[in-house]
Amino acid sequence: MIPLQEENTCVIGLQWGDEGKGKIVDFIAERADVVVRYCGGANAGHTVRIGGEKYSTHLLPVGVLRPGKMNIIGNGVVLDPAVLFREIDALAARGVAVTPANLRISYKTHLVMPHHMQEDASREQSSEGAAIGTTRRGIGPSYADKMHRATAFRVADLVDETKLKHRIGQVVGEKNKVLRALYDLPPMDWKQVFELYRDFGRRIAPFVDDTTFLLLQYAGEGKRMVFEGAHAVLLDVDHGTYPYVTSSNCSGLGVYTGAGVPPQMVQNFLGVIKAYNTRVGGGPFPTEQDNDIGNYIRERGHEYGTTTGRPRRCGWFDAVAARYSVDLCGVNSLAITLLDVLSGLDHLNICTAYKYRGSRLPYFRADMDVLAEVEPIFETLPGWRGNISGCRNFAELPPEAQQYVKRIEQLLGAPINMISVGPERAAILMR
Ligand code: GDP
Ligand code: IMO
Ligand code: MG
Repeated sequence: MIPLQEENTCVIGLQWGDEGKGKIVDFIAERADVVVRYCGGANAGHTVRIGGEKYSTHLLPVGVLRPGKMNIIGNGVVLDPAVLFREIDALAARGVAVTPANLRISYKTHLVMPHHMQEDASREQSSEGAAIGTTRRGIGPSYADKMHRATAFRVADLVDETKLKHRIGQVVGEKNKVLRALYDLPPMDWKQVFELYRDFGRRIAPFVDDTTFLLLQYAGEGKRMVFEGAHAVLLDVDHGTYPYVTSSNCSGLGVYTGAGVPPQMVQNFLGVIKAYNTRVGGGPFPTEQDNDIGNYIRERGHEYGTTTGRPRRCGWFDAVAARYSVDLCGVNSLAITLLDVLSGLDHLNICTAYKYRGSRLPYFRADMDVLAEVEPIFETLPGWRGNISGCRNFAELPPEAQQYVKRIEQLLGAPINMISVGPERAAILMR
């Protein structure tokens, strides 16, 4: 039996991603020993700013930025080895060492292969059927193959070169036929793919581990863990705004299977919300402001994708959607980020219910057809002026900012314990 840990926290985004999870994980990781990524892949982009330096990670847990922390890439992740090693090399060039001493990767983790990138991009460009607006990182096709099984590759497959050669020959041959038939793509040279992945295998070998065993061992030693959610509840493949979602269980519900740990190992679910809403890619967005308000938020919040650089769609805070995320995942504490971005607006709107076919809908429906029709019902609160990035106590915030935070807390039914007022590591206040 594992001893009950009081301090393990899973950090999840409650909107459509980019809530500032990276910053919050980095903050709480100071008091933790281990940081675990459990879902998604290089479609994520988590940013931490330390002393004016910006660090963005896509696959590596942000715990690599703090010396002495162990980092785990769990089995629920889909790993593109090319991105992983690019990220490790870029950090090394900036003096941040990522070695087997601070990073372990589950042997069960699935791989993103070159044909997954091709499938993703070709499907998005195809004129047949609507595009999802994916990051084109091969995420959907890799997860599809994981479920399909016969054509999937895991980290464990990289270690036996003879077997790897055989399987890559077979699977790339099969994929070439499909990609040619569907998108008229020229065939990939399977030998080149094999050589590339054989070399990745040689480099990844010292990082590969049985991470479930490792995490259970850490639990036995009383080590504290932070589970770093990627994406967000509304992008979860089962519970988000399907089909405009990503392909993993990136709500808090995916942490157990994705990290490979029993439920007793995660006690706290810390939900991260930004002070307004954003979305990248397609899909419904009831509170979207495709106008001066949206532009104001985008420019002040630098709302451009960390992974693709696409401008993010911006809008008012949607308490109906965020409440759904809180309830679904049992969120027991909240962090609000980017509050400083809203400074200077005369008034702020919060969506407290939807109007649907003439009646009031007080709860969220993760249903495209319903969401495409709903109209947000807004409550209007006064705005505030001035730069709040230097505030370090709740009482220092303008009264209107305090009122805004308290109202969101009331609507979501969970305490807001952390307020982030700037991108820097230190720009955070505890409440
Ligand atoms: P994640 O994917 O949830 O980790 O979020 P991203 O890193 O993709 O996007 C959040 C962006 O907001 C990053 O550029 C952060 O540096 C920045 N950020 C985080 N918290 C704050 C904040 O409180 N204020 C401001 N102005 N920027 C913030
Ligand atoms: P972080 O962890 C914002 C969105 C994409 C697209 C949809 C599907 O940084 O918050 P995919 O490439 O996953 O098949 O794309 O999901 N998406 C994100 N949007 N932040 C993310 O991650 C995202 N991860 C996926 O924009 O709409
Ligand atoms: Mg991001």
